[in-house]
Amino acid sequence: MRRRLLLSFLSITLFVLIALGLPLGLSYANTEDRRLATDVQQVAFGFSQRAGAIFDGGSVADAADLQMVVDAYARDGGARVVVADADGAVVAASPGAAARASTPAMVLALGGAEVRDRYRAAGLGESVGVAVPVLAGGQVQGAVLVEASRAATAQRIRNNWLLLGALGGAILLVVGLVSTLLARSFTKPLADLDRGAARLGEGDLAVRVAVPDDPPELTGLARSFNATAERLETLVRSQQAFVADASHQLRTPLAALRLRLENLEAEQADGEETRPEDIERSLAEVQRLSRLVDSLLVLTRAEADRRAPESIDLGRIVADRRDAWAAYAAEAGVRVEVEAPAILVRSVPGRLEQVLDNLISNALDVAPAGSAIRVQVLKRGEMAEVQVRDAGPGIPAEQRARAFDRFWRGGAVRRDGGGFGLGLAIVRELVAADGGDVALADAPEGGLAVVFRLPLAGPGPVAPLDAAPPSEADRLDEPVRVPSAR
Ligand SMILES: Nc1ncnc2c1ncn2[C@@H]1O[C@H](COP(=O)(O)OP(=O)(O)OP(=O)(O)O)[C@@H](O)[C@H]1O
Ligand SMILES: [Mg+2]
Repeated sequence: MRRRLLLSFLSITLFVLIALGLPLGLSYANTEDRRLATDVQQVAFGFSQRAGAIFDGGSVADAADLQMVVDAYARDGGARVVVADADGAVVAASPGAAARASTPAMVLALGGAEVRDRYRAAGLGESVGVAVPVLAGGQVQGAVLVEASRAATAQRIRNNWLLLGALGGAILLVVGLVSTLLARSFTKPLADLDRGAARLGEGDLAVRVAVPDDPPELTGLARSFNATAERLETLVRSQQAFVADASHQLRTPLAALRLRLENLEAEQADGEETRPEDIERSLAEVQRLSRLVDSLLVLTRAEADRRAPESIDLGRIVADRRDAWAAYAAEAGVRVEVEAPAILVRSVPGRLEQVLDNLISNALDVAPAGSAIRVQVLKRGEMAEVQVRDAGPGIPAEQRARAFDRFWRGGAVRRDGGGFGLGLAIVRELVAADGGDVALADAPEGGLAVVFRLPLAGPGPVAPLDAAPPSEADRLDEPVRVPSAR
């Protein structure tokens, strides 16, 4: 990924550099060559004019003068000049140039033509040569040949190419560096994520990756990765805690049962008669154990239960549960009073019964004889609300937050001698599974009010639960003030 990014950056840069640099270099070379040619041509014309003046009746002094100028030019410019008359006889020539009077270019110039050419000349190397006729009195009286070395121009052109190359190289280097850094900044979060995912896969649930500010796609990916890891960790840790708690809770009744059975065995071995109450106590222990296992199963299944909710008449269920508990309540001298109009809620069949049973059983365990337990059902916005209130000791406000924890048991003196501390945990799981919530509050009766809410069933077909989770505003953050039942 990093190499590919780098390669693409570099190839684009190279393409741009070539597209811009090549025409620039070529045009510079062209301009330089043209200038050299023009310069040489001008010099040739200059000499041709001077020679023309001499041929037009100049003096010997003029001829010497021409020779001097020719020498001066040839010395300064790395050039050669030869001036010949109409017969090709040398009139003036720079050192070593006399032999050039009979070149084809000179012959052409003597014929009246103007010749410009680039060639390798002995002694000068690559050079530009210009031959022009000397005109005097309207006639060709001679010719001038100027040859100038192209070395300086070629050097300038080479230097220009080198400069362009160096510039291009520097640009490539900078682009390479910058794109390496960029590519690294792009790929680092990906590499981090890759490493994080690998560690998560190996079971390191505490792994989190750094969230990059940029680009947004990676920011989102890193955030969801962390959220996933967080959720996985919470889930696994709570499962572990649950299994640990559950096995711990199972140990005590199992140990008690074993003790009783061992006693029975010892009694039998001693030939004593087995007392029926010993067997009864063992059976009670077994019953307690199976109740614990049942509660644990309800708790674990509530989360995994994916059955679709149905429209259920809350009023009917509440009335049913009142009837179911009537005998037990009567035994305890407690009335169960129900105020439950028919209200349709969305719930998975069987759940509401379990919720109400747990709450009524808790209330019955603490309600003083002669008091009443009130179950009230009402509509509150988009939700149905159920209050289960008693006149018992209640739960102190500072303990209410923990009351829904698994295996938490309060200090209230109870009719049944105390359960496992799973009832309220089950209630919360089941209500949440139906998209509702539950909270504890003070009851006007003096005891505890457990208030849970469930989404009302809409008029249309019942939607799956996941489609419409309760909005944040609907949640019971604070205990609801329970209106007086009187
Ligand atoms: N109506 C109530 N009034 C006073 N205290 C209550 C009431 N309901 C529950 N509690 C307290 O909250 C604790 C937890 O209740 P929860 O129903 O979760 O467990 P439990 O009733 O002790 O055991 P389980 O329901 O598993 O048999 C109880 O031990 C009790 O002290
Ligand atoms: Mg309970």
